[in-house]
Amino acid sequence: MKIIRSITEMQAVSKTHKSQGETVALVPTMGYLHKGHASLMRHAKENADVVIVSLFVNPTQFAQGEDFDSYPQDFERDKAVTEEIGVNYLFMPIASEMYPDGYNSSVVVSGISKKFEGSTRPTHFNGVAAVVAKLFNACLPDIAVFGQKDYQQTLVIKRFTRDLNFPVEIVVAPTKREKDGLAMSSRNVYLSEQECEDATILFKSLTKASEAIKAGERSRMVINNIMLDSLNSIDKINPDYACAADADTFDEPEEFARGQRIVLMIAVYLGKTRLIDNTVITLP
Ligand code: PAJ
Repeated sequence: MKIIRSITEMQAVSKTHKSQGETVALVPTMGYLHKGHASLMRHAKENADVVIVSLFVNPTQFAQGEDFDSYPQDFERDKAVTEEIGVNYLFMPIASEMYPDGYNSSVVVSGISKKFEGSTRPTHFNGVAAVVAKLFNACLPDIAVFGQKDYQQTLVIKRFTRDLNFPVEIVVAPTKREKDGLAMSSRNVYLSEQECEDATILFKSLTKASEAIKAGERSRMVINNIMLDSLNSIDKINPDYACAADADTFDEPEEFARGQRIVLMIAVYLGKTRLIDNTVITLP
C-alpha cells in the first residue's frame, strides 16, 4: 500500500490506473478506523480494481466547540487496517494544500442539508460537501462508498454529485453494529462502559418504531413519540431529535403512505458525546 500526500500525485496515479482500463473506488474517512470503515473498504475492493482510502480530519465540517481538536487518531492502527484489507492507496492530504490561503469556495446543498443534523449543526454539511467534492477531484474515482450510518450525509453527497455532474457512482453500504446493536463509530471511544450500555437505547428505539410501523402505524407523530419515549427511558440520554421522514426527500407528512420508503433518524447527547443512528423501512 502506498501513502500519498500530494493532490497532484494522487490525480496522476488515479489517471494512470484509469488509462489502463482499471476502475477506481474511493472510501473517504476521517481515520480512527473501525469495522464499519473496514466493511466499506471491502465493498470497494469487490467493486473496483483499485481502492483509495482517504484519511483527512476535515476542519470545515466541525463547528466551534465541537471535537475537531480532540478527534481520535491512531495512524499506525489505521495503516495496519487498510494494509490488511488490501487497500492500494492511503491518501492523506495536507490541510494547507486542501485549504490554501485565500480558500473561499463552498458547496452548498439547500433543503435536505438544513433539516435534522443541519438544524443543530448548520455549517456541517457545507463542510462535508466541499471536502467530498475536493476528494473526488483529487482521487478521480469511478465509485465512492459511504456508510448508511450517516444517512443524511449520503443524501447530501448523492445530491451534489448529481446536481454538479460529478462522474462518480455513489454506493451506500449498511451500518455495522456491535452485537448489542450499538452502531460502530469512531466517537464511541469517548463512551464509558456504562454509556456504551446506555447507548444501545438508540437501536432499541429504532427497532421499537420499526415494529410499530410493521404492525400498521402510519402517523409520523406517533412514530416519533415511540422513539422519543423509548430514548427518554434512559436518564443520561438527552435526545436532540427522533424523526421519521421520507427516505429520499425528507418530506414529513402527517401520515405516511403504503409502500413509502421512510427513514427513522435519531440524534442524542450522552454526556458530551453526540450519537446518531437510523434505519430505513418500507411501509407495508
Ligand atoms: P467518518 O466518520 O470517518 O466515516 C467515514 C465513512 O464510514 C462514512 O461514509 C461513514 O458513514 C462510514 N461509517 C461510519 N460508521 C459506520 C458504521 N458503523 N457502519 C458502516 N459505515 C460506517 O463520515 C465521515 O468520516 C466524513 O464526514 C467524510 C465523509 C470522510 C468527509 O470528511
